[in-house]
Amino acid sequence: MDHSKTKVMSNGNGGLHHHHLHNQSSTPHRLLRGGKFPYVNKLSAREMISLTAICDTFLPSMDISGTGDESLATFYATSASMAGTPESLGGFLSGRLEHPAISLLRVGLWFLSTWYGTFVMCGFASLSSHFPYFQSFPQLPLRTREKILQSWFFSYFSLLSMFSKCMKYLTLRIFFSQVDENNYNPSWKALGYCGPDPDFTNQTQEEEASATEEELFGPLCKALVDLQNPKQVLLQTFQKAGFPVSVPINLRRTILSPQPPCLTISCDAVVVGSGAGGGVVAGVLAKAGYKVLVLEKGDYMARRNLSLLEGPSADQMYESGGLLASDNLSALFLAGSTVGGGSAINWSASFRTPAHVTTEWCSEHGLQLFGTKAYDHALDVVCERMGVQQDVVNEGFNSAVLRRGCLELGYPVNNVPRNSPPDHSCGWCHLGCKDGKKKGTQETWLIDLLQSGNGLILPRSNALKILHKKDEGGKKVATGVVFEFKNGREIKETYIVESKVTVVACGALMTPSLLRRSGLKNANIGKHLHIHPTVMAWGYFPETSSEWPAEMKSYNSGIMTAMSTVVANSDTSGYGAVIQTPALHPGMFSVVMPWISAFDIKQRMSRFSRTVHLFELARDKGSGWVGNYPKSLTYSLDAVDEENLQWGLEKMLRILAAAGAEEIGTHHQTGMKLRVKDAAPEEFERFVKEASTMKLKDLLTPVSSAHQMGSCRMGVDPKRSAVNERGETWEVKGLFVADTSVFPTALGINPMVTAQAIAFCTAQSILEVLQKKVKGD
Ligand SMILES: Cc1cc2nc3c(=O)[nH]c(=O)nc-3n(C[C@H](O)[C@H](O)[C@H](O)COP(=O)(O)OP(=O)(O)OC[C@H]3O[C@@H](n4cnc5c(N)ncnc54)[C@H](O)[C@@H]3O)c2cc1C
Ligand SMILES: *[C@@H]1O[C@H](CO)[C@@H](O)[C@H](O)[C@H]1NC(C)=O
Ligand SMILES: *[C@@H]1O[C@H](CO)[C@@H](O)[C@H](O)[C@H]1NC(C)=O
Ligand SMILES: *[C@@H]1O[C@H](CO)[C@@H](O)[C@H](O)[C@H]1NC(C)=O
Repeated sequence: MDHSKTKVMSNGNGGLHHHHLHNQSSTPHRLLRGGKFPYVNKLSAREMISLTAICDTFLPSMDISGTGDESLATFYATSASMAGTPESLGGFLSGRLEHPAISLLRVGLWFLSTWYGTFVMCGFASLSSHFPYFQSFPQLPLRTREKILQSWFFSYFSLLSMFSKCMKYLTLRIFFSQVDENNYNPSWKALGYCGPDPDFTNQTQEEEASATEEELFGPLCKALVDLQNPKQVLLQTFQKAGFPVSVPINLRRTILSPQPPCLTISCDAVVVGSGAGGGVVAGVLAKAGYKVLVLEKGDYMARRNLSLLEGPSADQMYESGGLLASDNLSALFLAGSTVGGGSAINWSASFRTPAHVTTEWCSEHGLQLFGTKAYDHALDVVCERMGVQQDVVNEGFNSAVLRRGCLELGYPVNNVPRNSPPDHSCGWCHLGCKDGKKKGTQETWLIDLLQSGNGLILPRSNALKILHKKDEGGKKVATGVVFEFKNGREIKETYIVESKVTVVACGALMTPSLLRRSGLKNANIGKHLHIHPTVMAWGYFPETSSEWPAEMKSYNSGIMTAMSTVVANSDTSGYGAVIQTPALHPGMFSVVMPWISAFDIKQRMSRFSRTVHLFELARDKGSGWVGNYPKSLTYSLDAVDEENLQWGLEKMLRILAAAGAEEIGTHHQTGMKLRVKDAAPEEFERFVKEASTMKLKDLLTPVSSAHQMGSCRMGVDPKRSAVNERGETWEVKGLFVADTSVFPTALGINPMVTAQAIAFCTAQSILEVLQKKVKGD
């Protein structure tokens, strides 16, 4: 039998050449496969001893044999170190993560490996009643270590509470999402988690052998250029596609990179970032006939190369591996970083910009654009292009609970408009959409770019600096970009792009740093960062629950199909919160769940598949600041936003109870929860009141964000904004920003469509500039 055959790929782009195709289902990208995380552990032996002791305090081996459930017993018996978690974590701490706290963590680990450091950090709790009275942390009995960690979460010393929080996030996230070579995690069975979507592996087997190159590698393969190819091939590729190339004179001193640039590529427009905003601009300009180069620092993950494994997918397709937090952990961030950006991994909710927001942007911020037909038209175009619709065929567990609870209580509940078909019910979409039914940027606008024959996409290409010069009038004009090509963590080469216009669309967290690195000084760059702060509530519905069939799992079937505006305030201030449902797989689930004790976390996790989560996102008045990303990123929750979130928490707890949850709770570090079924009405009221009046600003409840906006806001006055109504920076002509960072305020609803509609309008302004330039040439 012929098990494998060789197919020659020739796409004329120097992209992909020889590939061995096996007659088995699709092959995940090498970095999305199971096995060890690809980071070398450089921690010292001392640091590792402390780290192992900490990991094994969060997740020790526990004996519950006798309950008769074998997989549960295995799960309880498996400690973090038995699963190799400390070793992987060491790799993450050795350079993968760039949070400013990492160096402190390492100092802390070193301290804990000594008796005196342990005494300093743990105090009298670490003293033993008999000789040797002083011990190092790893020598302490498990029970004592557990007590120490419990106390640190509440410590007045913010360093200690940060230390314990960071360690908890990382240990749990890695333990529950890491997989072995067979893509398996031995704890999943006890969690009721099936791992990557089982339907897809079966579905693709037969199609595979006869599949075309496009089907295998995704529609975009023809527009991708792999800079790994030999120089000669690259030269031909660019020239054939109509992009002049030359070998640059040595510009070493003017750029940030240690290597002199090896090639200059010329084009009409360069777009940095291939996400929601960047994709639209690139597609529109290329379709209009201009030569467009897209730089994307993330990798390209073809549909068939997705693994839908939470650990490696988050590591490769999310910014900072999905482990990104503000300086004092006041907020945890999720943002996409892959070809398609956030749109490749989003939860597919597609909302038009709400009317009260466009009105506010128009009247209070003086931005006429948002009152025009042109903007409405842009929304129409974007929604049409993405196939936005709102029928639901298969509602997932989380959304169904939200809907039922709201109906019981008479709260408003709506369908969520999505950019995927009604029957598309994939709970793994945030790890990439495997059947391409979700119309992400990489499935829509970037396809326009491809079909026009005018665009190329360069993955793993990180923009370092925008180039500009002074024109005759002394005004700065953008001339292109310097970028580096990366192979994993290793920087390969530096390149220059020469362009007529330059578009920055790196997302609201990264756009400001790039502009600052490039010498822009406007004080609004990096300020006014809004994040739609999010908190969650959960309800546990045992398998035996009569109302909710046992096959329903918290993680599969459609994500986010229902939402409630019960606390939205849309008729009054417009600043409230909306209630939606997340897609939480074990890694993220364990990050947000409080760790109260080793036994408690194992119990919470064992209920994973029947624990429904609701979240609310607030349209935030408060804001943060992003300086040199990711090293300086701050966010503080405003009192008004905190109040709105508390109000929403109250409603979410009620909704969960009304939908029949047996137990409900929040993510507060005290682990507060209530067995609804056994609670008298007064007791229930008392609990809801207490849970929804707890402070959210004291960092004891994780606040997270999947939406970042406003850090280069649009306005009519350079003193109060970073870009003008056309999306052009005030300081540099021909330099445009086209992502969520231009939002004048927070939006209050999922931002993708708005980002794309504004980018569509900005693209029209760029077209005018290009038309003039071409005429002028
Ligand atoms: C898990 C998750 C679920 C979401 N679900 C929804 C949803 O259901 N509905 C919704 O409306 N929104 C959703 N969002 C938000 C939405 O994805 C983002 O708001 C949107 O993608 C932002 O678009 P953007 O153009 O600003 O940036 P992004 O889409 O984030 O794109 C920025 C791109 O620029 C790249 N980049 C950054 N710096 C550089 C550099 N120096 N050089 C080269 N490239 C660079 C990044 O790698 C990234 O790919 C979700 C977000 C997440 C994380
Ligand atoms: C993507 O999948 C194809 C076919 O399934 C495989 O041959 C190829 O090696 C994969 N790509 C990567 C980068 O792993
Ligand atoms: C998800 O990504 C697609 C692709 O760009 C986009 O059209 C859609 O609006 C996004 N949905 C949300 C809610 O962001
Ligand atoms: C966290 O940082 C923010 C921004 O610097 C600050 O406003 C907030 O008070 C800090 N929170 C705590 C609890 O230290």
